[in-house]
Amino acid sequence: MAHKVTLIPGDGIGPEVVNATVRILEATGVKFAWESFAAGAEAYEKYHEYIPKELIESIERTCVGLKGPVTTPIGGGFSSINVALRRQFELFANFRPIRNLPAVPTRYPGVDLVVIRENTEGLYSGIEHEVVPGVVESLKIITEKASTRISRFAFEYARKNHRKKIHAIHKANIMKLSDGLFIRCSRSVSKEYPEITYGEHIVDNTCMQLVMNPYQYDMLLLENLYGDIISDLCAAFVGGLGLVPGANFGHQCAIFEAVHGSAPDIAGKDIANPTAVLRSGILMLRHLGEDNAANHIRLALEKVYGEKKHTTRDVGGTAGTTEFADAMVDALHTIPPPEPVLQEVEI
Ligand code: NAI
Repeated sequence: MAHKVTLIPGDGIGPEVVNATVRILEATGVKFAWESFAAGAEAYEKYHEYIPKELIESIERTCVGLKGPVTTPIGGGFSSINVALRRQFELFANFRPIRNLPAVPTRYPGVDLVVIRENTEGLYSGIEHEVVPGVVESLKIITEKASTRISRFAFEYARKNHRKKIHAIHKANIMKLSDGLFIRCSRSVSKEYPEITYGEHIVDNTCMQLVMNPYQYDMLLLENLYGDIISDLCAAFVGGLGLVPGANFGHQCAIFEAVHGSAPDIAGKDIANPTAVLRSGILMLRHLGEDNAANHIRLALEKVYGEKKHTTRDVGGTAGTTEFADAMVDALHTIPPPEPVLQEVEI
């Protein structure tokens, strides 16, 4: 039976990297029934809505989405589609595994970090107003409910996946009430997981510590804004934004998307790296119970990256998006599917 999945190609490089990913996912032999929708500026032109109601209804039906990046206007214009979707479906947990791909040269080999970002509140609540001309106010909302929920998600993930350490990242020395509540909640949840070492670091120090020695961390637990910033920083450890996947989990639905944005500087040139969306697709396959296909793509990635003939420019190659996708499809047709094995999440 085909898996029903809502597909959001997105803006900028989105359609290029999502189309490449769809071709590769389909080359595993897994059957999908895609329900594809525009979102953002393109959707507005077509439906006069930034998030068409057909898209919402589709996610309500499928409960699984694969999403390309959507452009958000800077300093004005409509509010972020990403933030709205995460809120609409209570996709409270943003999961971003940071792992090297074999054969991609990086400053730090063997990184294995998990970033867990709270997805529904903080400064992304979007509550802003002009008090008087020249003075604006943005409210940072932190609740006990959301902070406890994301902390529990992180500790449950750690327990199931045999992770050893979680650091809650904060600025509670300055934001004593908001970040103070966040760490009080994570500290309290940590007591239920004595086998997992719990630590707290201030966010500015964390940036320095990460760049000095990323191996000292295992899992990072962060509120929304710090999670957004730190995950881009961590992407640089393993070769950049073209490689790092992500997933947004709620209790009912999940939307899989890369960490990167719509990259207007390289859009429409067939040069973007689709690996980050593809690895998000691997996470989606695992979510759908298609571990064999996920492992098969993983082997094909090792082959294509190992040969270094068809990799994209961001990782030192010369290939375009389509050429990389062609090579992945060929590799999937050449390499036999792996034997079914039980293994921890591998992207
Ligand atoms: P960006 O992530 O789009 O680009 C940052 C840099 O990384 C650029 O130099 C870009 O060329 C490069 N890059 C990104 N993805 C790449 C890929 N797959 N292959 C090769 N190089 C890649 O971040 P930026 O420029 O700050 O944001 C652009 C737009 O994307 C904004 O409108 C922003 O709001 C939106 N955005 C959307 C996200 C989403 O839909 N989940 C996430 C982040 C940003």
